[in-house]
Amino acid sequence: MTSLTDLLTEHVSAVFVSSDLPAELGKVNVSDRPDLAQFQCNGAMAAAKIAKKAPRQIAEDVVSKLKDNDIFDSVEIAGPGFINLNVSDSFLQNYLETSILGDNFSIPDLGEGNTIVLDYGGPNVGKPMHVGHLRSSIIGDSLRRVFNYLGYKALGDVHLGDWGTQMGMIISELEIRNPEWPYFDADFTGPYPEESPVTLKDFEELYPTASKACKEDPERHERAKQATVDLQNKRAGYIALWQHFVNVSVASIKTNFGALNVHFDLWNGEASVHDLIAPMVEKLKASSHAVDSDGALVVPVQSEDDTKEIPPLILYKKDGAVMYGTTDLATLVERMDLYAPSKIVYIVDKRQHLHFEQVFRAGRLSGITSDTTELVHVGYGTMNGTDGKPFKTRAGGVMKLEDLIKMAREKATERLNEANIGDNLSDDEKHDIATKIGLSAIKFSDLQNNPVTDYIFDLDRMTSFEGKTGPYILYQAVRIKSLLRKALEQGVNVEGRIVISEHNKKLVLLMGQLPNVLKGVCKSYSPHILADYIYNLAQEFSSFYNSCHILSEEDASVKESHLALCDLVSQQLDVTMGLLGIEIPERM
Ligand code: ARG
Repeated sequence: MTSLTDLLTEHVSAVFVSSDLPAELGKVNVSDRPDLAQFQCNGAMAAAKIAKKAPRQIAEDVVSKLKDNDIFDSVEIAGPGFINLNVSDSFLQNYLETSILGDNFSIPDLGEGNTIVLDYGGPNVGKPMHVGHLRSSIIGDSLRRVFNYLGYKALGDVHLGDWGTQMGMIISELEIRNPEWPYFDADFTGPYPEESPVTLKDFEELYPTASKACKEDPERHERAKQATVDLQNKRAGYIALWQHFVNVSVASIKTNFGALNVHFDLWNGEASVHDLIAPMVEKLKASSHAVDSDGALVVPVQSEDDTKEIPPLILYKKDGAVMYGTTDLATLVERMDLYAPSKIVYIVDKRQHLHFEQVFRAGRLSGITSDTTELVHVGYGTMNGTDGKPFKTRAGGVMKLEDLIKMAREKATERLNEANIGDNLSDDEKHDIATKIGLSAIKFSDLQNNPVTDYIFDLDRMTSFEGKTGPYILYQAVRIKSLLRKALEQGVNVEGRIVISEHNKKLVLLMGQLPNVLKGVCKSYSPHILADYIYNLAQEFSSFYNSCHILSEEDASVKESHLALCDLVSQQLDVTMGLLGIEIPERM
């Protein structure tokens, strides 16, 4: 469906065109003075310059033509030439019935089956998942859901970090500690043990120790680099060990993402594309896109009109190791080949911007990507603690994802108890609801910000049942569900006709914006536009709820209309919160 503003824009633009003025001046927006009007059009000001007339004169001409139809209840000029518009009840009634109440709220098919690859999550094998990975996965998963909803074939790829120097660091650390292991015996012919010699718990200590040792001792660092090169050259014992690391890490990563209700279609990683690197490099050499630079092989990406230096993308270091950029470029080869996507979107910390600039440029210059594939880096900011510094545990360490979810659940339980909500529920049910509330708190507080801004992780604030929080919205949504259940118990129809009235007009006008809201999310790659919409919807519902009796309404048709509206809002909340990756419990 077209959103309400788009539909009105069509009408007003036609009037501008009939006066020989550009159609785009007829753009209608939701009024920023809702006390004065529902909608406004500011095109008369710009039109005045083109037509060399006074803005008010243009506005008067437009207004006189708009008065001729039954779309508008009132069309008025304000100030120098703003056009204020209110739609008629009959128009809104018709719009509600033909658009908002259509299948899927008549959301348009924007994607037309085009494929989009979304690269988010990006946890590293052997290292704990930190809050940066949390932001990436929450934002990425929501974008995946929205793009799918709009008719794209959106694929989420976790793109594991499993081929970089941290692998060599851990391998060499284990080799120093356990030289007798068969993985390190070059003459060993296999088979290697089936069970992993390291556990998840071991990783918590292994990587930090190895990384510290490498920082302090250059020789130790060399050894780690050599182990990385040997791994990448597929030394059998190293590969066998590495496979254990991947299995152990991925099992835990899957559990974590499962708990977070974050989904991936593809479980690829840097290593998945290793075999594509050599042929890619050969082609890049043949086409002179790859050149030697002091013994390393690089793709220069600087362009003449750059105002700052953009260093070349390094394909092979001097020691023969491949880099982060190499695997990302080879991943582009694979994604183009398998999916020919219309967009590839990376949801990664904004501090990696230069890296993606290099990869994108190398991809385009070399023809690995085509002009029809848009490459986008959605860079997100840092999640800070209430002290304004990057979020850490109390002890100053990296906060593990599972601990964070647990913390949020505990806080949610506290909140439920404080508010005496859910007293009549069993312990299991309460645990389940507290988990949902905790997740809603974490996800909503992240998604309500534009990704690029840093935001403060404030557990107290985000778990509150008041204000712009996930729990507030869940609470409103559950309240509607319980109202609908009661109505059904009383045998009242909740699928009757919604009749536009003063009580519900604002809600219906708001719901008319959903298509634009979703389009906006896809255009800006920012779910915060949808989070804003949901919050407004919950608030607007609350005013509706407070302004009329619903179950005690005596007029049967009014009561039916109220309940049908409640049902519609409930469906919209389910769908839109679902697009943020947030599940609404049936009861609280
Ligand atoms: N593993 C990386 C990190 O932890 C994120 C990967 C992002 N995706 C990519 N294609 N480079 O920073």
